[in-house]
Amino acid sequence: MLNGPNLGRLGVREPDVYGSATFDDLVETCRATGRTLGLHVEVRQTDSEAELIEWVHEAIDARIALVVNPAAFTHYSYALRDALAMRTAPLVEVHISTPAARESFRHTSVVAAVADGTIAGFGLASYQLALQAVAGLLRAGASS
Ligand code: DQA
Repeated sequence: MLNGPNLGRLGVREPDVYGSATFDDLVETCRATGRTLGLHVEVRQTDSEAELIEWVHEAIDARIALVVNPAAFTHYSYALRDALAMRTAPLVEVHISTPAARESFRHTSVVAAVADGTIAGFGLASYQLALQAVAGLLRAGASS
């Protein structure tokens, strides 16, 4: 699960928008959800576009499924979009808030078209729903 810029500040960052849970809470929630789904979950966060893209390449080479909250990169990073387009396993875009209900610059996602789907607006539960989606996609892929 890859997280982009400013998501390491969860808990103190605009709590009215992103809630009071911290990034550590997010990591714990995702690991616990992964355990119930039989998935090994690794959660990373970076403020760097280059590092995020390197992690995407790493997952692609290892054929690992991705849940990505690209944060602000969602709205303008064609470089991240091009990296994600090379994916070799399920990919779910996730957002804590509902970008479509916020400022107009958040209404565009340049990565949505290369993902299997997008989950937004459920707070930390967006990540749990995304993991459930990944588990379903992996099961479907395994049986096809
Ligand atoms: C976000 C929404 C983005 O618009 C914003 O730039 C973020 C967080 C979310 O999870 O709701 O940093 O991706």
